[in-house]
Amino acid sequence: MAKRVAIIGAGVSGLAAIRCCLEEGLEPTCFERSDDMGGLWKFSEHAEEGRASIYRSVFTNSSKEMMCFPDFPYPDDYPNYLHHSKLQEYLRAFAHTKSLLGHIRFETLVTSVKKCPGFLVTGQWTVVTEKDGKQESTVFDAVMICSGHHVYPNLPTDSFPGLEQLQGNYLHSRDYKGPEAFRGKRVLVIGLGNSGSDIAVELSRLAAQVIISTRSGSWVMGRVWDDGYPWDMVPLRKEPVFNDELPSRILCGTVSIKPGVKKFTETSAVFEDGTVFEAIDSVIFATGYGYAYPFLDDSIIKSRNNEVTLYKGIFPPQLEKSTLAVIGLVQSLGAAIPTADLQARWAAKVFANSCTLPTTNEMMDDIDEKMGKKLKWFGQSHTLQTDYVTYMDELGSFIGAKPNIPWLFLTDPRLALEVFFGPCSPYQFRLMGPGKWEGARNAILTQWNRTLRPTRTRAVGEAQQPHHYYNLLKMLSFPLLLLAVWLTFYS
Ligand SMILES: Cc1cc2nc3c(=O)[nH]c(=O)nc-3n(C[C@H](O)[C@H](O)[C@H](O)COP(=O)(O)OP(=O)(O)OC[C@H]3O[C@@H](n4cnc5c(N)ncnc54)[C@H](O)[C@@H]3O)c2cc1C
Ligand SMILES: NC(=O)c1ccc[n+]([C@@H]2O[C@H](COP(=O)([O-])OP(=O)(O)OC[C@H]3O[C@@H](n4cnc5c(N)ncnc54)[C@H](OP(=O)(O)O)[C@@H]3O)[C@@H](O)[C@H]2O)c1
Repeated sequence: MAKRVAIIGAGVSGLAAIRCCLEEGLEPTCFERSDDMGGLWKFSEHAEEGRASIYRSVFTNSSKEMMCFPDFPYPDDYPNYLHHSKLQEYLRAFAHTKSLLGHIRFETLVTSVKKCPGFLVTGQWTVVTEKDGKQESTVFDAVMICSGHHVYPNLPTDSFPGLEQLQGNYLHSRDYKGPEAFRGKRVLVIGLGNSGSDIAVELSRLAAQVIISTRSGSWVMGRVWDDGYPWDMVPLRKEPVFNDELPSRILCGTVSIKPGVKKFTETSAVFEDGTVFEAIDSVIFATGYGYAYPFLDDSIIKSRNNEVTLYKGIFPPQLEKSTLAVIGLVQSLGAAIPTADLQARWAAKVFANSCTLPTTNEMMDDIDEKMGKKLKWFGQSHTLQTDYVTYMDELGSFIGAKPNIPWLFLTDPRLALEVFFGPCSPYQFRLMGPGKWEGARNAILTQWNRTLRPTRTRAVGEAQQPHHYYNLLKMLSFPLLLLAVWLTFYS
């Protein structure tokens, strides 16, 4: 009999999980508390309890070629960066094409996930759900947690002395939907992440004045890179904030940047540099999110010092049986969709016993080693941060789906050049090995066409592509020079 897998949440991660379970011959049942799939990309006019909430104007900051399911490219004419409604349209098409919707139970909240009494032997879980006020308890062979990590607002009011006496109102970016209510107002936005910068720029067109307060600053860059290409299709390895308009709004003075807030008075904010923003109407805390799994015993995911201890960001290493996986919790410069797809493929294989995990000690050692590096590279507040390409290669190698570059150079040099020097696009991880997609080669070779297509209004000769081959020439020039010197002197 097929193993039964409970999947919690039908966002991007949940859809990936259902699909990968089906590929492995498992029997998935996905529970979704809301009435639709898509997770945070399903916009609603008001923040809903327990579900991520976005503002009306959100566009992705990952480009379409980098943010797709690896065997499901976006239609050619989709823009490179997508409004949330367009992404939701794509997710719906994916769910429909892969026949996933029939496996989702909507308006069903998972309230508890507990080990069954015989867990040491069976690895089974009792999952309690609630629908229309009725509770139901079901035993599953495995569980995939796909409930998202942009749900619970980080609202650090205690760190802001005097906030309680401020006459203006304050809210978290989670509750921000659009700028209308702020027309003519003086608004302080705290935090310079993507939410803070998007919101400040949007407000700057209607509000009287917008100030962003940032305690540690951010690198701000545009979505558009050299020659008009999307930033994530060219090599880059740092965690920036993406905003095409913020620099110009700052130059026009409608947005100003200040350091951290020292204290609030009844009407103003005093910043660390002693400057003051007077007559504040509203404060928006764009201070990010914390994550929580209220249906699960905390110690399973945070098995030590209240830190997330998950092997490769997915498996709790201390569990006696590897029958629980968290999908979508890591954060990287890469896009969520291909990451969730690869995570779910590996997890499904572990559940199906076609992959095994190392021992608890080996997994803990790996977690410690990775944590040390993360603290060094990304700092204390970014411990979910992971290097995208390294992570994807690692997961790919666990399931035999990492592209074999030397083999490709021998058998298909044109493709090899694009894989090695081109963007690390999702199709690469369905190019070979189990789960291979026959269309992957063509998708890789045509990825630049799909990128350019929506930007073209008329044909003006051959489109330029980024110069990967120049990179190849640059790399080869040194060994060639050495060879020439060697031949000159020793032959
Ligand atoms: C504003 C914003 C913009 C972003 N832009 C990008 C981007 O451009 N590119 C990118 O790659 N990533 C982006 N992200 C990251 C984003 O988190 C991922 O893209 C991805 O959508 C996360 O999907 P998920 O399925 O893991 O979580 P979610 O989308 O949050 O879905 C979780 C689902 O689980 C359900 N659920 C939760 N608890 C329960 C329960 N107890 N019982 C039943 N159902 C439950 C929820 O209702 C929800 O539908 C952005 C995030 C935000 C906040
Ligand atoms: N257009 C888009 O695609 C888009 C839009 C919005 C969000 N997102 C994504 O959604 C996720 C969440 O983004 P986010 O911007 O909401 O959160 P975020 O990236 O976590 O940024 C939070 C900001 O708040 C600051 N902050 C946190 N605690 C603070 C405190 N106590 N005092 C002062 N400042 C504090 C942080 O400063 P420090 O850096 O100093 O900690 C940081 O600047 C990210 O993955 C982001 O990429 C994407």
